[in-house]
Amino acid sequence: MTANKTVLVTGGTGLLGKGLEETMPAGWRIVSLHQRDYKVKGSKSRHLILDIRDKRAVDKLFAKSRFDAVVHAAGIASVDYVEKHYAESLESNIVGTLNVTSAARRADTHLIYVSTNAVFDGKHAPYREDDPVAPVNKYGGLKVECERLVRETLAHWTVVRPILMYGWNHSVTRPNPATWIYEKLMRGETVSLVDDVWENPLYNIQCGHALWAAVRKRPEGVFHLAGKDSVNRYAFGREVARAFGLDASLIRRVTSKAFPGIAPRPRDTTFATTRMEDELGVKPMTLREGMTAMKAAMTARA
Ligand SMILES: NC(=O)c1ccc[n+]([C@@H]2O[C@H](COP(=O)([O-])OP(=O)(O)OC[C@H]3O[C@@H](n4cnc5c(N)ncnc54)[C@H](OP(=O)(O)O)[C@@H]3O)[C@@H](O)[C@H]2O)c1
Repeated sequence: MTANKTVLVTGGTGLLGKGLEETMPAGWRIVSLHQRDYKVKGSKSRHLILDIRDKRAVDKLFAKSRFDAVVHAAGIASVDYVEKHYAESLESNIVGTLNVTSAARRADTHLIYVSTNAVFDGKHAPYREDDPVAPVNKYGGLKVECERLVRETLAHWTVVRPILMYGWNHSVTRPNPATWIYEKLMRGETVSLVDDVWENPLYNIQCGHALWAAVRKRPEGVFHLAGKDSVNRYAFGREVARAFGLDASLIRRVTSKAFPGIAPRPRDTTFATTRMEDELGVKPMTLREGMTAMKAAMTARA
């Protein structure tokens, strides 16, 4: 009998990590790393509390454990938080990524870095992997630097850029647009959603499948991960209401001008998904397919 292979997932309790855990193939196990001390109900992973900003702790972990792959997703991922707390975000995203990539390089371990659609300015969609990056906010700028760090220092690397993700998150981590809209509509509250920011949203379970394909195939280069349908946030919200049988009339259609205090967003970062389809073997889901699967997962949990 062959032993299980192990993947270290930094930020394993986030929405992306949950998608990875729920799609874990036979023969693999996950070590899920996060910084705060909490228990995750029903998790299939082994959990490890470690702050990736702590270089000694990261080095110690790699010295005592051998990983077959690393999925590096930890860091501050809120666009608006990064804009307002830049020093803290530099430590989390740049220092943390340097600590993880340095340890992976010394251990000669394949690392998959989780980047974002925020590396683009949103003026030239649909975006392919080799299109020039031009971030419009600080979060996007940090992710560009992390991508460079990965490309230029590692021998075995893949960069994946998931687009706006939706799905059921662990209650210990932040909500996502689908769960946030769902909760508001469930409480009978109005929701203002912009009609001038476009993406092709990605179900976190589909993201999990694409990541496992990258773990197993170890392709070098950049991969865009996204769903099939390009929609604005207003249309996305209406689809949430439809899927869960909630009152869509509570959704107000606005433009980005309604939120002057937040970090700038790229207008349209819709991804081309040819590489995901051809090289990772993952067919993009329509938004309706993703929402239907999300609704079914809720029913199964109940
Ligand atoms: N969600 C999206 O729509 C989206 C879209 C594009 C790209 N991405 C990228 O995908 C990745 C994962 O995003 P997500 O939405 O799944 O994240 P998330 O839900 O915000 O969760 C973040 C995870 O990172 C961990 N973490 C944060 N700082 C850490 C530190 N210093 N040391 C150790 N662990 C730390 C958190 O642990 P604690 O709970 O202990 O803090 C948590 O497990 C990020 O790199 C993000 O930039 C996300």
